[in-house]
Amino acid sequence: MELELTDMQGLAIRGHGHLPHAQYLLMRFSSLQETKAYFMQLVKMVTHAGDKRPEFACQVALTYSGLAFLGVPDQTLASFSREFREGMTEPHRQFILGDTGEHAPDFWDWGRDSSDVHMLVMLFASSAMALDQLVESELNRASLFRVMLHSSLPTGMLHDQKEHFGFRDDISRPIIAELVKDKDLGNAPKYPIGEFIMGYKNLYDEYAPSPVVPSHTPGSQGLSPHPDYPGFMDLGRNGTYLVFRQMQQDVVRFWDYVKSQAESSDKAIALAAKMVGRWPDGSPLVRCPVAPDPSLSDENDFGYWDEDRSGLKCPLGSHIRRTNPRDHLVTETSQKDSTEMVAKHLMLRKGRPYGDPLVATMQVSDFMKATDDGKKRGLHFICMVTDIRRQFEFVQNNWVNFHKFGGSEQDADPIIGNHYHQDQVVTDRFSIPTYPVRRRLENIPNFVKIRGGAYFFFPGLKALKFISNFDGI
Ligand code: HEM
Repeated sequence: MELELTDMQGLAIRGHGHLPHAQYLLMRFSSLQETKAYFMQLVKMVTHAGDKRPEFACQVALTYSGLAFLGVPDQTLASFSREFREGMTEPHRQFILGDTGEHAPDFWDWGRDSSDVHMLVMLFASSAMALDQLVESELNRASLFRVMLHSSLPTGMLHDQKEHFGFRDDISRPIIAELVKDKDLGNAPKYPIGEFIMGYKNLYDEYAPSPVVPSHTPGSQGLSPHPDYPGFMDLGRNGTYLVFRQMQQDVVRFWDYVKSQAESSDKAIALAAKMVGRWPDGSPLVRCPVAPDPSLSDENDFGYWDEDRSGLKCPLGSHIRRTNPRDHLVTETSQKDSTEMVAKHLMLRKGRPYGDPLVATMQVSDFMKATDDGKKRGLHFICMVTDIRRQFEFVQNNWVNFHKFGGSEQDADPIIGNHYHQDQVVTDRFSIPTYPVRRRLENIPNFVKIRGGAYFFFPGLKALKFISNFDGI
């Protein structure tokens, strides 16, 4: 099936990397009529994926409470996935996601409960000045319609594609088969777009689950018929779910801890690389276990089954091996089964860092000498998935925070895991397979704290138009 790029919002398949300045506006609605009028104007500004290099970009996502506020019919609201309807902070979900202790929503700046935020407007520009103008005019327009700003989250890009701890990020991305069909990418695994965008077939050769509108609903004729449900139009087509987590990073705490566990700076860097699974320059441990190799800083064509089943090069519990175990999951008995199982739990990451870097050079040798400057910084983690439960929540629950992942006993993800001792459950350790005796880190503090979050629907353009025009039945 042809991809309907002009009906997808640009961020669904692009990163807007040529627009390094961005701001995310979390908004609340106050009056239905005024919001509708505002929303109709906003929808006209939305950038679609057919526009390859827009001068600026505007993207829009809505929470469940935002859709309900805008009067989306009950039958349609009920057709969204349970996770989206219940929201990120539903009590059982807090447990699944590891949002307990100091990560608990009680401490968040936004998204504490599912009706806190109605809409996310993401603005991207090529310069700080252009962004300021864009934000100012958007906020002025919003206030005319009593659409209120809940929080404004500036977000940017750090030197050399790094995240705040000093590691190169955003290297590994699932390759979408439909987007590369004419390119020769050798044996690199490719995944159907239905895993990430609704309206297309997924890995099960089924259409990704998608919200629907009864076809007799006024205004729904602009939508496409749902391929599986006669009598219903497909509101999800060319849209997806957007998972947003604001993750504050304590850079000094990270490097202080790592230094305290190593005899020299070089050994501290090697230890931190074991925790991530890549060297700071991005080169993967499985390919260069002893020292970084800058020629491999974009390398992503590797597996673990043949190259490192025991984790002697890249520990099984490292961040990249937990979040994407590729072709080696210890619970599976073959490389093929591992690969097939893991493929069902991938996500399209779209996050960007926020806050000034602790050191401008972004060199880890400088991070290790730096002292705390009291400023807040972190990652606006964003991922897009068509099945929040099967993809994002599964990874967070079963791989990131599960203390018995990969045959360990008391380990959570060393970088982003929730580390604690509670009711005989211990999660603050990290096992590093080493010959002849494994090494184990203990008392790992939390380096990351969740400061906000929500599940959003990131609709296609026709769906946005339907939502803005829908006037009740
Ligand atoms: C502050 C929080 C985080 C930091 C500092 C961080 C850092 C990193 C770094 C340095 C990489 C290696 C670069 C790459 O392979 O592209 C990476 C990869 C990755 N991260 Fe994170 N990450 C964070 C949060 C998360 C979260 C919340 C998830 C999902 C639950 C996640 C999922 C992934 C995935 C799927 C990969 C790619 C692994 C692969 O394909 O090999 N990360 N992260």
